[in-house]
Amino acid sequence: MDALMEMETWEKKTALKAQETPDGAEQAEVIRMQNINKSYQMGAQSLHVLKDISLTVKRGEYLAILGPSGSGKSTLMNIIGCMDVMDEGSYQLDGVEIGHAKEKELVRIRNQKIGFVFQKYHLIPTYNVLQNIVMPLLMRGMGLREAERASMDTIELLGLKERIRHKPNELSGGQQQRVAIARALVGQPTILLADEPTGALDGNSGKEVLKLFQNLNDMGNTIVMITHDLNVAKHAGRVVQIVDGEISA
Ligand SMILES: Nc1ncnc2c1ncn2[C@@H]1O[C@H](COP(=O)(O)OP(=O)(O)OP(=O)(O)O)[C@@H](O)[C@H]1O
Ligand SMILES: [Mg+2]
Repeated sequence: MDALMEMETWEKKTALKAQETPDGAEQAEVIRMQNINKSYQMGAQSLHVLKDISLTVKRGEYLAILGPSGSGKSTLMNIIGCMDVMDEGSYQLDGVEIGHAKEKELVRIRNQKIGFVFQKYHLIPTYNVLQNIVMPLLMRGMGLREAERASMDTIELLGLKERIRHKPNELSGGQQQRVAIARALVGQPTILLADEPTGALDGNSGKEVLKLFQNLNDMGNTIVMITHDLNVAKHAGRVVQIVDGEISA
């Protein structure tokens, strides 16, 4: 069975769960950013990279943030993903204000609420597929056997069952990205946050990842995807543009 067929099977299994979501719950805002500003200090100079960014994302949305190189996309992604903090403004993630959170709290929020997908996969090269995928669950303190069991649905969903003992360098780029997506999803994060997820892939593998994102969104996953490529952004349900650190609809 290929990955997409497996996904369709899984989709049917989870359809019931999705219907049980209380009315209106899926419309809740998972991201609410107001007047976010961020500068980088370069010696005596200050580089104003994000300028009064306001952005909301509702549960179940698939948003693309589109912008040219240097426009501030990764800086914004780092803030959305709680890897960095803004200088000014308010950021509520799933109803919790992030601005005042301490580093330890940010680590916990990141692990619980965000599933990251990067352009270059960021897999641990000495770990096999299974060891990479269970990592977010181990970081939550789950035991290894339980984490492996809990990962099986996601591994099947992404068509990786036959590959769990492979190391990343024994996989194609598309397969490595599927491992990264499995790792991002395994902890059932509030948001799947992807920075140029197709940027390192050939055309077909890129299309496969975009189809996967579409299916994951159809299943109810909230996705924020960052890209410089309009043809990639078009796959999202909504596109906002960032130019020179400013957002326009
Ligand atoms: N750690 C940093 N220190 C200083 N300046 C930085 C830092 N990170 C990014 N910048 C600067 O901030 C601006 C925005 O960078 P950012 O990485 O957010 O852009 P981007 O839109 O992701 O670009 P790309 O598409 O090339 O990845 C750039 O001018 C960059 O040089
Ligand atoms: Mg970037």
